[in-house]
Amino acid sequence: MTSETILVTGANGQIGSELVLALRKNYGEDNVIASDIRENDTDSRFEILDITDGNKLHEIIQKNKVTQIYHLAALLSGTSEKNPALAWKINMEGLFNVLENTVQHNISKVFFPSSIAVFGPNSPKINTPQFCNTDPTSIYGISKLAGEGWARYYNLKKNTDIRSVRYPGLISYKTKAGGGTTDYAVDIYFEAKENKKYTCFLEENTYLPMMYMPDAIRGTIDLMEASKNTLTVKDSYNLSAMSFSPKEVCASIQKIIPDFSIDYQPDFRQAIANSWPQSIDASVASADWNWKPQFDLDKMTEDMLKNIVIENV
Ligand SMILES: NC(=O)c1ccc[n+]([C@@H]2O[C@H](COP(=O)([O-])OP(=O)(O)OC[C@H]3O[C@@H](n4cnc5c(N)ncnc54)[C@H](O)[C@@H]3O)[C@@H](O)[C@H]2O)c1
Repeated sequence: MTSETILVTGANGQIGSELVLALRKNYGEDNVIASDIRENDTDSRFEILDITDGNKLHEIIQKNKVTQIYHLAALLSGTSEKNPALAWKINMEGLFNVLENTVQHNISKVFFPSSIAVFGPNSPKINTPQFCNTDPTSIYGISKLAGEGWARYYNLKKNTDIRSVRYPGLISYKTKAGGGTTDYAVDIYFEAKENKKYTCFLEENTYLPMMYMPDAIRGTIDLMEASKNTLTVKDSYNLSAMSFSPKEVCASIQKIIPDFSIDYQPDFRQAIANSWPQSIDASVASADWNWKPQFDLDKMTEDMLKNIVIENV
């Protein structure tokens, strides 16, 4: 049996709620501690943790002899843009607390999710490479880029093993999205199933990089389990699966629900989307730790529409 004890922060969210299940399957129920600022009554291995509280983090690590951390707690792009000061506090102070505790407690590995939001108007938009200009214009992207810098700094100067991917927009049927610019690609399926129509907050031809959650969870765990000496990127790996527009998701849904319809009312998130890449080059992740997605748009649409149950809505 594993000797690892894993702490997941922000575990009640879209990624955490699925990642915790996958980690428990691999490492054992008792060896994965979920934590979040919000209570979770249904999980017996759960700790309330506001990640800006470094002392509480220290106590939880010490009490449970934590050996690895998956640090998911953050404010997402839409929510961050509405409250930049709070976003900076949670995304930066939270990460800093994790990094300091990592050094203090000799934590063997940390996962920190970055985002395609680190790219900006002067990054190449198509097949955005691993290494290129990063000039984010959203407060969320600024915080993630700073986080990547902190990860690189700790890895180089403090001998830590912090691993990271730049997730694209993530789509899942189990939990609703948490305030990001790619949320439309989750909501559209729920609305298709319930009401057969959807009003989209992005324009019809807005292409963004996206990924189905099973690919994201598998990629995350694969990266964390990869041999350290194969990993050449010290900050954050580009990760990609597919790229599509709202119009294309609509067409994909109509193959299964022919009378589904969509209309468009772009809001402030259009400007955020316009500053992001349309597709991502993940060839370095593929070369270093064999990253390969399994879901394309139609395969994901089929799975989403099969699995969404209206009680979840
Ligand atoms: N979902 C995506 O499409 C996506 C894409 C790129 C990167 N990411 C990153 O992945 C991570 C998880 O994203 P998600 O989609 O699950 O987000 P989410 O919003 O669904 O979940 C985040 C969780 O963090 C918790 N949280 C908020 N403030 C906290 C605090 N002060 N202390 C502790 N917990 C706090 C929330 O209660 C929530 O459960 C984030 O770091 C996010 O930036 C997500």
